[in-house]
Amino acid sequence: MIENRHPIPRGAFHSFAQFSTAQLPILKHAFVLLLIAMGKILGVVNQKGGVGKTTTAINLAASLAIEGLKILLVDCDPQANASSGLGFQRDDNRHSIYDVLMGDASAEQVILPTQLELLWLLPGSKNLTGANLELAAASDRAGRLRQALLPVQASYDLVILDCPPALDLLTLNALVASNSLLVPMQAEYFALEGISELISNLERVRSAFNPTVTIEGVLLTMYDDRTNLAQQVTETLREYFRDRLYRTVIPRNVRLAEAPSHGKPVVLYDPRSKGTEAYFELAGEYLARNGIESPRAKQRKAAGALHPEKLDKSVRFWPYS
Ligand SMILES: Nc1ncnc2c1ncn2[C@@H]1O[C@H](COP(=O)(O)OP(=O)(O)O)[C@@H](O)[C@H]1O
Ligand SMILES: [Mg+2]
Repeated sequence: MIENRHPIPRGAFHSFAQFSTAQLPILKHAFVLLLIAMGKILGVVNQKGGVGKTTTAINLAASLAIEGLKILLVDCDPQANASSGLGFQRDDNRHSIYDVLMGDASAEQVILPTQLELLWLLPGSKNLTGANLELAAASDRAGRLRQALLPVQASYDLVILDCPPALDLLTLNALVASNSLLVPMQAEYFALEGISELISNLERVRSAFNPTVTIEGVLLTMYDDRTNLAQQVTETLREYFRDRLYRTVIPRNVRLAEAPSHGKPVVLYDPRSKGTEAYFELAGEYLARNGIESPRAKQRKAAGALHPEKLDKSVRFWPYS
């Protein structure tokens, strides 16, 4: 075990996350449909840059869309990497989430279709940098995103928010709008640095704005299991996060890094890559943890019952069966 030099007391995350750690029981069918119909909002947050938030937001969104869920990806980062990663290069004339937050456009007016039939994008823009300042004195400055998404969220099975690498007003808006949070991190020695800050911010958000926000999970990204250090850090993280640490880990994979420069999620850039497989596995774990059977899973099941010999075993879904 590596020495514990992290500032968070053991179990802090877990006790903080007590509202969220209860595993959902296998949900009754109608209730599942109701949950899906309600349109859940999943924030992908970590104030550290370069931990895989955008890569996760794009590729989880794409995998779930291919699984048959209707997904809206919202790019809340002034760097707009989620937008360019889906092929929308910088365009100062295009409306973005900035206009929506400022009350100059509705979300519906700004949402764009993508190369995947069931994936939609609410693009970001460089203007968002100004939103932090411009919203500072505004009324309901923390609840703008939540309000903006209200009219559209029921049209999607899931809304995914890609957050900036900062604990700023934009991230605060995302925390307030989210029903649950996915925290990507790298298995490095200082992985927990900054997490105590994120957690105390979450506590404040919970008590002031959004008492029901839960931790969906913590996801290890850019994982290299050849190193002992990665394995030791994983053990430490599992002690802190317990069942909130996702079993799926995203390996370091060059295709994941290349895909955004082609404006595509990895599944369209290289469907056979390890990165594609990992993000499908993540989608499978997300669906399983939330008791959701995707439309594609239903089709696979039906096809398997009719033609067991045709069951496609090439892509594995968690939990493996
Ligand atoms: N699993 C991975 N394997 C290889 N490169 C990755 C992986 N995940 C992310 N990257 C690359 O690492 C960099 C940071 O990732 P990104 O998703 O943009 O992080 P964040 O949004 O947290 O700042 C990007 O260049 C991205 O392409
Ligand atoms: Mg990013």
